[in-house]
Amino acid sequence: MEERRKRIFSGIQPSGELTLGSYMGAIRNWVALQEEYDCLYCIVDEHAITVRQDPAQLRRRCVAQLAQYIACGLDPEKNIMFIQSHVPQHAELAWILGCYTQFGELSRMTQFKAKSQQHADNITAGLFTYPVLMAADILLYQADLVPVGEDQRQHVELTRDIAQRFNGVYSDTFVLPEAFIPKLGARIMSLDDPTAKMSKSVPEGCINLMDPPEVIMRKFKRAVTDCETAVKYDRENKPGISNLLTIYCAATGKTLAEAEAAFAGQGYGVFKPAVGEAVVELFRPIREESERIMGDKAYLESVYKTGAQRAQQLAVRTLGKVQRKIGFVAR
Ligand code: TYM
Repeated sequence: MEERRKRIFSGIQPSGELTLGSYMGAIRNWVALQEEYDCLYCIVDEHAITVRQDPAQLRRRCVAQLAQYIACGLDPEKNIMFIQSHVPQHAELAWILGCYTQFGELSRMTQFKAKSQQHADNITAGLFTYPVLMAADILLYQADLVPVGEDQRQHVELTRDIAQRFNGVYSDTFVLPEAFIPKLGARIMSLDDPTAKMSKSVPEGCINLMDPPEVIMRKFKRAVTDCETAVKYDRENKPGISNLLTIYCAATGKTLAEAEAAFAGQGYGVFKPAVGEAVVELFRPIREESERIMGDKAYLESVYKTGAQRAQQLAVRTLGKVQRKIGFVAR
């Protein structure tokens, strides 16, 4: 029997612009992995509505995000690229898996705790059950690997637990997925508070993929650091500089030792703009290519429509198997 290539699933919420964090933590690896794996890369619009979205913005961002995926180097011929809500099996499987997930497990999710503090006036059932939808995304495609940043590790672990539980009750149904987390860039911190994760919900400390060069430079020059002068990696005592060093190395391919040596004796006044320039140069071709692709709406539409068709062919198989096993009458 021919062995199937390992499969990958990952997604990003179109709840804001793509950020330096999502690029370093996720997309960069997606691009690297596309050669060796069968990959599905999704725009998870159903996740985005767990907090209130402006409808026109959401629609625009979904398509822009696809253009940006392609501009980052993801090839729609090699990968299945699609919009989550175009494949209804995600929501159907999420309902079923929700019946195999404990209230206590969901209550322990750190992202739920953080987000319910941020949106204290709108803690919806969707925000609470969101990790179940994420489990459905992954398990629907029998994904082996899930390339994500550090903040999603807990959700991938929960996905494994749910899959294992289901397999235990009904015999092997789901592949148990593993998180694929990069060594460098798995947790990029905010530029205005290096103790908090860089996040699209805090725009000032956040670099967006589509930010113009002058905005990127300004944000880096203003980045919060300690009041020493040495460019040295020390996560405990120098979180700001350590974060900038991580970004610099991830953007240039240099090692930490090389970067420290390059800026020895030069101080932050030289280092901060150098990090800014490295990121400007990293993002410049992506921004330009993405603007070009955005001009071709027909092409983008054909990519997401074909993507949804291909994804759905895989999704119906898993959902059918699940429905049979739990005792639903065949249609
Ligand atoms: P989201 O949209 O918050 O983030 C998208 C991806 O970017 C990573 N990331 C970061 N990595 C490093 N440093 C940062 N500051 C940073 N900020 C974000 C995230 O870890 C993630 O990989 N629930 C997911 C989306 C999702 C998903 C899935 C992912 C839905 N279904 C199935 C994988 C598989 C989320 O909200 O990511």
